[in-house]
Amino acid sequence: MNNITQILSDEHQYILKVISAALNECELIENGKEVDTVFFEKTIDFIKNYADKFHHAKEEDILFKAMLENVDGLHCNPIPVMLHEHQEGREYLQGMEAGLANKNNTSLIENTRAYGYLLQQHIYKEDNVLYPMAEQALSEEQKEQVNRLYEKADNAFNNLRNVESLKFV
Ligand SMILES: [Fe+2]
Ligand SMILES: [Fe+2]
Repeated sequence: MNNITQILSDEHQYILKVISAALNECELIENGKEVDTVFFEKTIDFIKNYADKFHHAKEEDILFKAMLENVDGLHCNPIPVMLHEHQEGREYLQGMEAGLANKNNTSLIENTRAYGYLLQQHIYKEDNVLYPMAEQALSEEQKEQVNRLYEKADNAFNNLRNVESLKFV
């Protein structure tokens, strides 16, 4: 059987690690630590390039698309909610960038936390509901096609990986 979601769940683990480091950093700032600009620049870069342009793009352009091809076979359609949450995440990311640029620590912390909590619950739903649903709903043929498209996206990303701040992924 062709597994099409393990690779995405593995990517979630990186995203969750970065989120927990960022949430921890917010708490330290509230307790008097100075804002570490480089840390937040790296976090923002990771969210933008890895979580969004790489991981979310694989979901939106490959997995979700394949699921929508046989939406009749799904007992409900959670994809619009997932897409909406990706969009919400992009808005919080913009808030983080603005907060950092304007040295508005309250806004930086608020948006970092909002992003973190949103993604933690989003990832939980994908790992426990959406991905098992995808494994069930897609035909073997569709799964093969999904894996081929993942490979293309992974190759493109590996070229991007030369970007300094993405080297830790
Ligand atoms: Fe997602
Ligand atoms: Fe995801």
